[in-house]
Amino acid sequence: MSHVAASVVEHTGTFWSLDLDRPITTSLPARLPATFLQAGPERAEELAMAMEVADPAVVMERFARGCQCYVAYLDGGKILASYGWVSVNQEEIGELGLTIRLRARRAYIWDCATLPPYRGRRLYPALLVYMARVLREQGLRRLWIGADASNYASRRGIEVAGFQAVADVTRIAGVEIKTRYLLRPRPGVPEEVLQDLCQSFSQEVELVVPPGESRSA
Ligand SMILES: CC(C)(COP(=O)(O)OP(=O)(O)OC[C@H]1O[C@@H](n2cnc3c(N)ncnc32)[C@H](O)[C@@H]1OP(=O)(O)O)[C@@H](O)C(=O)NCCC(=O)NCCS
Repeated sequence: MSHVAASVVEHTGTFWSLDLDRPITTSLPARLPATFLQAGPERAEELAMAMEVADPAVVMERFARGCQCYVAYLDGGKILASYGWVSVNQEEIGELGLTIRLRARRAYIWDCATLPPYRGRRLYPALLVYMARVLREQGLRRLWIGADASNYASRRGIEVAGFQAVADVTRIAGVEIKTRYLLRPRPGVPEEVLQDLCQSFSQEVELVVPPGESRSA
């Protein structure tokens, strides 16, 4: 959610994690049959069309720097209905203007979408579950994903896929102030998970200590 007061702008989102050493499952599967796969550069043009970017070079640049892409197809492989990207090194979180630097065996899921005609069929959570299973086979241990406070569909899909909310983040920016990021832990989140998230960011992210707790960032 964005909030404008005087010259200060606040933007809030949430980070979720999924630990891959636990069963990866959802009780709410996709509402129509879909085929999932990891897409490579050979699908760059098709991906560019789905992503509504004019130049497939945008897609190729992502593959070139090691990003992975996963897709959901309908109708026997004829319709690319959903896609999602994964980074295992670092990635810019555009909405926040923040860089996440992944620790070993962690990945960050970003730029996911379901094409408008196919939304509301739970393709997104089904794709997230598929991604998690493949990434576990690749030896990864934990996944991170984020969504804006205002993006109900994304937040709902992430929860349906079994991710756990770890912390809410607020970006505070203004013309005459240094941009700050406040990270508010969700109740009951293990300290190790929270510290893992904190260590994925630079010093500009401050951990907000909930009243009555004695955490240190
Ligand atoms: C967020 C997004 C990927 C969700 O994809 P999806 O495949 O529609 O996901 P779901 O079907 O699980 O929908 C999630 C919730 O959104 C709601 N919803 C979204 N579109 C809907 C539609 N057309 N009809 C009915 N419900 C819809 C539903 O409440 C649904 O939850 P429910 O099925 O438990 O009721 C999709 O809305 C999208 O591409 N949005 C634009 C890009 C974006 O915001 N990406 C996420 C950030 S990376």
